[in-house]
Amino acid sequence: MDSPKKYYITTPIYYPSNKLHIGNSYTTVAADALARFKRLTGCRVWFLTGTDEHGRKIQLRAAEAGMEPLQFVDGIVEWIKELWRDLDISYDDFIRTTEPRHKEIVSKIFTRFYEQGDIYKGRYEGWYCIPCEAYWQERELVDGQCPDCGRKVELIAEEAYFFRMSRYADRLMKYIEEHPEFIQPVSRRNEMINNFLKPGLEDLCVSRTSFKWGIPVPFDPDHVIYVWLDALSNYISALGYGRDDSLFDLYWPADVHLIGKDILRFHTIYWPIFLMALDLPLPRTVFGHGWLLMQEGKMSKSKGNVIDPRALCSRYGSDAVRYFLLREIPFGQDGVYSQEALIKRINTDLANDLGNLVSRTLTMVERYYDGILPEPASTAATDEELKAIALETPGEMESLMDQLKINEALARLWKLVHRSNKYIDENLPWELARDQARRPRLGTVLYNLVESIRFISVLLQPFMPRTPARIWEQIGLSGMAEAQNWESLMQWGAIKPGTPVRRGDDLFPRLDLQAELKQGRSGGAASKTPAKTERQAEAEESTAGLITIDQFQQVDLRVAKILTAEAVPGTDRLLRLTVDLGALGRRQVVAGIARAYSPDELAGRLILFVANLKPAKLRGILSEGMLLAAKDEEGRLALATVDQNMAPGSKVS
Ligand code: MSP
Repeated sequence: MDSPKKYYITTPIYYPSNKLHIGNSYTTVAADALARFKRLTGCRVWFLTGTDEHGRKIQLRAAEAGMEPLQFVDGIVEWIKELWRDLDISYDDFIRTTEPRHKEIVSKIFTRFYEQGDIYKGRYEGWYCIPCEAYWQERELVDGQCPDCGRKVELIAEEAYFFRMSRYADRLMKYIEEHPEFIQPVSRRNEMINNFLKPGLEDLCVSRTSFKWGIPVPFDPDHVIYVWLDALSNYISALGYGRDDSLFDLYWPADVHLIGKDILRFHTIYWPIFLMALDLPLPRTVFGHGWLLMQEGKMSKSKGNVIDPRALCSRYGSDAVRYFLLREIPFGQDGVYSQEALIKRINTDLANDLGNLVSRTLTMVERYYDGILPEPASTAATDEELKAIALETPGEMESLMDQLKINEALARLWKLVHRSNKYIDENLPWELARDQARRPRLGTVLYNLVESIRFISVLLQPFMPRTPARIWEQIGLSGMAEAQNWESLMQWGAIKPGTPVRRGDDLFPRLDLQAELKQGRSGGAASKTPAKTERQAEAEESTAGLITIDQFQQVDLRVAKILTAEAVPGTDRLLRLTVDLGALGRRQVVAGIARAYSPDELAGRLILFVANLKPAKLRGILSEGMLLAAKDEEGRLALATVDQNMAPGSKVS
C-alpha cells in the first residue's frame, strides 16, 4: 500500500500586540478547513500556527501597559489560544517566537548567513514603519507614508547588518517563472515580479540597535535580529530544523503558506531567498488571500468597527461563523463582513437549505416508518441522478480544495443539498404515503435522502466540525463517527436499512434579522455599550434572579455513562472518572464525590452531565465537564441519574 501523502500547511504567526479580530481569524479558519479536508482524504497533515512576539511594536505596547514584554504577550497569547479553541482550530503545533526552540535556530541561521558571506555589516539610513515592521527606501514611500498601511514612517540611521538579496535575485526570478504554482493567486505573482524583482532587489537590513526586544545577534549582542528574519524562520524552527530532523524530513517543504496579501512580499521574496541561502527547498505554494473589510473600509480600532470573533461565536456558534467566512468570500479576493450578510447566510443556507432537508426527511421517516430507516427497493431516473451527484461531490470538492477554492468547494457541497431538497419536491413522499401500493417507492425515496444527508454530513466536517455529529445523532450513526470517512463516500449505500433515526432539535433555528441587527447595533459583537431605557431597567429588575429559556439552553446537559473511576492520590474528596457521552466522545472529569461513593460502585452508572463546561485543571488533572449531584443540609451527596436506560450522550432538557 502507498504511504499516505503528507501536507504541511501554515498560517502567519500573529502579532500579540492586541487581541485578534475577525479578519485575522479568517486566515486561520481557512487554513483549518484545508487541514481538516486533507486529513479527511487520508493525508498525513501538519498544521502550524503561532505568534510573532518580538519587535519594536510589542516593546512599545508592553511599556504602555507598564509590563515586561513577555508578561504582556503571555496574556494575549492565552487569549489567542482560547479564540482558536472557540473556533475549533485543529492545529498540530503552536509556535511562539519567544520559545528557546525557536530562538536557538534563528541565532544559528544568522551566524551561518554571516559565515557564508550572505550577511555583512554596514550602515542603515532609511525609513521604518513600526506597525508593519518594514524598512522602505525614500522612493518607495507614497506621499511620504508607508506604502503598505499608509501610516507615518520614521527616519532611521544606524549601524546594521545587511543581507545580500541581490546574490539570489536571478535564481528567485527563474524559480518563480518555472513554478507557476509558487505564488498564488496569479495576479499577485505579477505584482511581485513587476514591483519588486524587476526594479532590482536592494540588500535587506536584518538587524536593529534602536530597541532590545528581539533575538540578539549571537556575535554582536548590541544588535537584535530583524523581526521578519526571526518570524519567517518559524516555519522551519517549529519542525525542529537544525535540532531534530525527524519532523522536518517528514514535512518540509511546506505545501501551503497561507497568508494575507499584505505580507506577500516577505513570503515570496525574502523567505525564498533565506531558504536558498540555507540550501533548502522552497514551499510549494504561497497563497495571499484578500482582506475582510467592513462596509466602511478596513477594520480598525480607531474606527470602532472591530468585530470580536469570540463574541460572534458565543452568539451564533462557531460552525455558523466558520461557514460564513468560508462561503461568503471568494477565496483570494477581498470580501465584506456585515452582520446582515452573516444572518442571511445562517437563515438561507443553514436553516432553510440544510436544516430543513434534515428535519423534513427525518419527520417523514418517523411518521411513515416509526423512525426505522426503510429498505430501498425500486430505482427511478431521479434516484440515479441524486446518486451520481452525490458520488461526484467528494472528487470535485477535493479538486477545488487543492486549488484553494474553498468557497467554491462549499458551493459544490450545497449543490448536493439543493439537489436533495429538489428530490423531495420531485417525489412528493407524502403523496406516495397515501397509496399502499407505492410503499416500496416511498421507502426508496426516504432511504436515498438519508444516505444523501450522510454524504453531506461527512463532507461538511472540515468546514463545520460540530454539525456532523449532531446530524449523526439524528440519523442513528452516533458512536460510528470513525466509519463516516472518505472511503464511505466511494459507494452509495453505507447507511444500513433498519437504522433507527430520530428527528432532534433544528440544526440552525431561523434568526430574526431585525432583532439581531438591533442587538448587534446595541452591543453584540462590535462593542459599544447601549444606554438602557427606563423601561428596560424596570423589566430587568422585576425578573432579577430569573433566567430565560435561552440562557438555560446554553447549558448542554447530557446523559453520561461512567466507564472508570479512581481515587485522586493525596485527597480524600476527589475521584477521577472517565465517562462516555456517545457522539460527543469520551471525557475525563474530576469530581468531589469520593466521600459518598467508592470507585468500584460507579462504573456503568448513567448520570447527568454538563457537556459544554470550559475544561479546568484540578490537582493538575484536566477536568472536561461536570457531573450533577444533589447535596442536602447534612452534606449528604446523591448523584443525579436517569430513571430509564438511556443511550450515553442523550440530551437532557
Ligand atoms: N506577524 C506578521 C506575520 C509573520 S508570518 C511569518 C503579521 N502579523 S499580523 O498579526 O499583523 O497579521 C497576520 C495576518 O492577519 C496577516 O496575514 C494579515 O494579512 C491578516 N489580516 C489582518 N487583518 C486582516 C483582515 N481584515 N482581513 C484578512 N486578513 C487580515 O503580519
